[in-house]
Amino acid sequence: MTDKIILGIESSCDETGVGIVRLGADGGLELLADEVASSVEQHARFGGVVPEVASRAHLEAMVPTMGRALHAAGIALTDVDAFAVTAGPGLAGALLVGVSAAKAYAAAVDRPLYGVNHLAGHVAADTLQHGPLPQPCLALLVSGGHTQLLLVEDIAGKITEIGSTIDDAAGEAYDKVARVLDLPYPGGPPIDKMAKQGDPNAIAFPRGLTGPRDARFDFSFSGLKTAVARWVEARERDGEPVPVPDVAASFQEAVADVLTAKAVRAATELGVDTMVISGGVAANSRLSGLAAERCAAAGISLRVPRPRLCTDNGAMIAALGAHLVAAGAEPSPPDFGATPGLPV
Ligand code: KG4
Ligand code: ZN
Repeated sequence: MTDKIILGIESSCDETGVGIVRLGADGGLELLADEVASSVEQHARFGGVVPEVASRAHLEAMVPTMGRALHAAGIALTDVDAFAVTAGPGLAGALLVGVSAAKAYAAAVDRPLYGVNHLAGHVAADTLQHGPLPQPCLALLVSGGHTQLLLVEDIAGKITEIGSTIDDAAGEAYDKVARVLDLPYPGGPPIDKMAKQGDPNAIAFPRGLTGPRDARFDFSFSGLKTAVARWVEARERDGEPVPVPDVAASFQEAVADVLTAKAVRAATELGVDTMVISGGVAANSRLSGLAAERCAAAGISLRVPRPRLCTDNGAMIAALGAHLVAAGAEPSPPDFGATPGLPV
């Protein structure tokens, strides 16, 4: 096999991403371009992603982002050997923009197109930084939209969900708690910063679904979010000042504690010795710190891609497309659609 150029398009939420990778004859990946246009500022005043606003922003950003990616990689559209696009899960209107654009670009140069899973893409992102993934491995995906534990037996084909949040995603809990604390959206970065000046043991917030009977690897963050809101409300009612750094640190500790405890338990029980953490919340300093500690203690090797690769981007979709091409997978049929609830 000679080198192949794979172009990936991502538009499942509020990031329009176009990434380009080179798949070497040895199966190795080289990142050639990773352009992202975000509409996060347009959603900030609503405290969360507004689907309609995101779709419009994708439509405006898609062609310019594609142009920037091709320019950064120093290639023309005709140099692309295969395309990949996020087919789901995600926001319906947002996904449709990416899928439609990808179909048009692929048809224009008569190349195969792979409609791929966004969650598998988050795992594939890691291979751009750390090389081939030891398989099986366990992936903890933590973002504004997802909180999932995945058993990855084959990145190009066999991924099984072994746990997920039963209510809010971890990032969603960060965003909601930030609102309670009058911190800006998205809430992860400001809470992470505030927490550094606070005491993580100041307030004992609840750890959802950690009882002995919770055999599956599911998560729950809605009770934690409510507990933080109630605690803050009670202080305000009593006319007491709210110790924002302590609340942030105690909340953050609860999130990092349940995520890492359950992920390490899952890896141990499944006999898997590699863990990947990806998604926007993987940028959290306490989560990566505690995961490093607990993985080391359990003899698990931990891989956390750099923040730029953890958040939504087109490069991860290109990387997944490249793994499919390398595995000789069939491209998607011409009539494949956008599937908001696409399972892994
Ligand atoms: O993966 P992402 O960029 O978008 C999707 O949701 O798919 O993740 C965004 C989420 C937001 O909820 C944001 O608050 C959270 O990631 N986040 C963080 C940090 N940086 C971003 N959460 C905790 N700590 C951080 N440092
Ligand atoms: Zn994502």
